[in-house]
Amino acid sequence: MNHERLLAELSAFLRIPSISTLPAHDADCRRAAEWVAEELRGLGAHDIQFLGSDTHPVVWGRGPDVPGAPTLLLYGHYDVQPPDPLSEWTTPPFEPALRDGRIYARGAADDKGQVFCLLKAIAEGGRPPLNFRFLIEGEEEFGSKVLFDVLTREPQRLRADAVLVADMAYIAPGWPAVYTTLRGICYAEITVRTAKSDLHSGEYGGAAPNAHEELGRLLGRLKTADGKIHVPGLYGAVRPPSRAERAAWRKLPFKEADFLKRRVQARALTGLKRYPVLERLWALPTFEIHGITGGFTGTGAKTVIPAEATAKVSLRLVPVQQLKTVQRQLAAAVKKLAPRYVDARVRFLHGSDPAQIRLDHPVFGLLDQAFKETVGRGTVPARAGGSIPVVPALARAGAPILLTGIGLPDDRLHAPDEKLEVKQLWDGIKVFRRFYELFGSSSVGRKT
Ligand code: BES
Ligand code: MN
Ligand code: MN
Repeated sequence: MNHERLLAELSAFLRIPSISTLPAHDADCRRAAEWVAEELRGLGAHDIQFLGSDTHPVVWGRGPDVPGAPTLLLYGHYDVQPPDPLSEWTTPPFEPALRDGRIYARGAADDKGQVFCLLKAIAEGGRPPLNFRFLIEGEEEFGSKVLFDVLTREPQRLRADAVLVADMAYIAPGWPAVYTTLRGICYAEITVRTAKSDLHSGEYGGAAPNAHEELGRLLGRLKTADGKIHVPGLYGAVRPPSRAERAAWRKLPFKEADFLKRRVQARALTGLKRYPVLERLWALPTFEIHGITGGFTGTGAKTVIPAEATAKVSLRLVPVQQLKTVQRQLAAAVKKLAPRYVDARVRFLHGSDPAQIRLDHPVFGLLDQAFKETVGRGTVPARAGGSIPVVPALARAGAPILLTGIGLPDDRLHAPDEKLEVKQLWDGIKVFRRFYELFGSSSVGRKT
C-alpha cells in the first residue's frame, strides 16, 4: 500500500464539509457524493447513480462483477455532523491534520475514514471474487429519509448475500467487535409558549409566566435526577438482556472507572445507578437534551421574560421499543407534565427503530477469521448505543448484516477533535480486503 498517496486521497475526502443537517452545505454534500462516485468509477463499478437527488443523494453502484460469485452490499455514509464548537478543535475540522499517528478531522472515523477502507480494500491487491453493490448515503446523520424512500420504492437494491456496514468501532484497542443491536432514536423539539409576546422583566417579573422556566421544569419532570424517564409506558417494551449476555458483558475489556476517567472525563457517571454502565449504554432507553433556545442569548444584558423556548431532545430506543409508539408516548407525556396555562408542543424531526441482528449465519465466522488473521483477535459480540437509522430496513430484507468497524472508542465522534488512528486505517483496509477474499472463495455466500 502506498501510504502517502492513500493519506492524500483520504484528506481530500475529509476536506469536504458535507454537513447534511445544515442547508448551507448542500453543495458540499453533493461534492462528497461526487467524490464517492469518482472512487466507484475508479474501481470499475458501473451503473453508478445518484438516488433521490432532490436532497443529499444516495450513491449507488454495482460491480466489479464476477459471475457466479457471492454478492456483497457495502453500506456507509459520506455526510458528517456539524463541527461546532469550533473553538474547541486543536486544528480546524475540515483541514485534516496528522498528529501522533492520528488523523484529526470531522468525519475521520464517522464515517468517511471507514468508507475509505471499504473502497480501498477493493482496489488494493487485485479484484476480489465478489459482486459488489454500494449504498453510500448522505443523510445518515439526519435520519436517512432519502434512503428509506429509495428502499421502499426499490427494495430489489438490497438483494445481496450479505451486507457489510462499516460505521462502528472496536470495543477497546485491539478488540474488534461485531454488533447485535443498535439503539433506535426519536428526535424531537419541545416548544413551550407562555404569552403572546416577550415582556419587560421589571414590569411583569414576579407575576408573568416565563417560557424558559416552564421549559426547564418540564424537562426536569421528563427525566429526574435518578435517571428515570417519566414518559408513561416507555419502559414497557424494554427487553432486558439475557443472563448469558450479561455474563458475557462482564468479561469484556470494559471498566466503569476507566470509562469515567478516560472517556467521559467528568466527575461522576449518571443515570439509573442500579444497572451496570454497559446496560445503561446498550440496553436501556435514554432521554437527552441537545440544546435549548429562546429568550436573550446575545452579548450583553437584556431584561426580558421570554414568551417562547425550545429544547431539542432525543430518546434512544432499545429492543423491542418502536419509534411510532414512543413518539405517541412522548407527546402524551409532554401534554401531561406541562401546566395547563402553557402551550407545549412536540415536533418530531427524525427517528428510527432499534435494530436486532442475529449472528447465526456462517458469514460472521468469515469476518471473525479476517480480523483474527489481520489484527490478531477475532470479533467479540457487543451491542451499540448509537443508531444507524436504515439498519432495521436492511435487516428486514433478509441478508445477514455485518455491523462492524475499525474506529476506536475514544475517536470522539460528533465532538471536537474527532480522529482516526492511522494504524486502524491500514488495518481496516487489510481486514476488509481479507474478508472480501474469504467471502468470495467460500461457499457461504453462494445462492446456488
Ligand atoms: N456511526 C454512528 C452510529 C454509532 C455511533 C454506532 C457509535 C455505534 C457507536 C452514526 O453515524 C450516528 O452517529 N448516527 C446517529 C443517527 C441519528 C442522527 C439519526 C446517532 O446515533 O446519533
Ligand atoms: Mn456513522
Ligand atoms: Mn455519526
